[in-house]
Amino acid sequence: LRPPRLAGRRVLVSAGPTFEDIDPVRFLGNRSSGKMGFAVADAARRMGADVTLVAGPVSLPTPPGVARIDVRRAAQMRDAVLAALPGQDVYIGAAAVADYAPAETLPQKLKKSGDSLTLTLVRTADILADVAAHAARPRLVVGFAAETSDLEAYARDKLHRKGLDLIAANDVSRPDQGFEADENALAVFWRDGRHDIGHGPKSRVATELLLLIAQRLEAME
Ligand code: C5P
Repeated sequence: LRPPRLAGRRVLVSAGPTFEDIDPVRFLGNRSSGKMGFAVADAARRMGADVTLVAGPVSLPTPPGVARIDVRRAAQMRDAVLAALPGQDVYIGAAAVADYAPAETLPQKLKKSGDSLTLTLVRTADILADVAAHAARPRLVVGFAAETSDLEAYARDKLHRKGLDLIAANDVSRPDQGFEADENALAVFWRDGRHDIGHGPKSRVATELLLLIAQRLEAME
């Protein structure tokens, strides 16, 4: 019998959206359900890995055997990911991290007054790029790219720009896959390769992605 493909590996996954608070009752969020990242964490665990999942605000059960850390904002997600980084073999950034957050969170509920309202937003840190450039960089750093056009070009640009080993791209313009769907399809790119994972349940797509990750890890040894 072959040992599970990821036995002895430590895998860190980020999943879900981030919510950036405007005041005590309002926030800026996005449509990520967290399903893909949770499926990735579950698949990695089933393949024998020691899995830590940093989860944004989602209502999903924790996959059995997975250590979960709940966060809300991008800044908290970054802190949790960087704190968990040492000793990880793989980082998989499947979270839909807010690119901008309110410059300040108001301590009291914002009252309506004028006909228009201007919010000042500031750029958040790119967690994935920070992980890829970190002194405790895992051997394999994997990103996700949700695109609506020119999938390969945008994905390859992110691969290089963020210093990643692999990027898994999905076409979110299709209503049957992506953010809120139970199914997905991925095109996975690395420096000199590509592997397409056909449309199917996120659990099967996640398992195929983890098999590819296990293969890439083995190829590095
Ligand atoms: O640049 P873009 O957001 O499209 O890249 C997507 C990838 O980058 C995802 O893996 C996502 O988790 C990660 N990301 C991040 N921190 C950000 C923005 C994106 O880790 N602030």
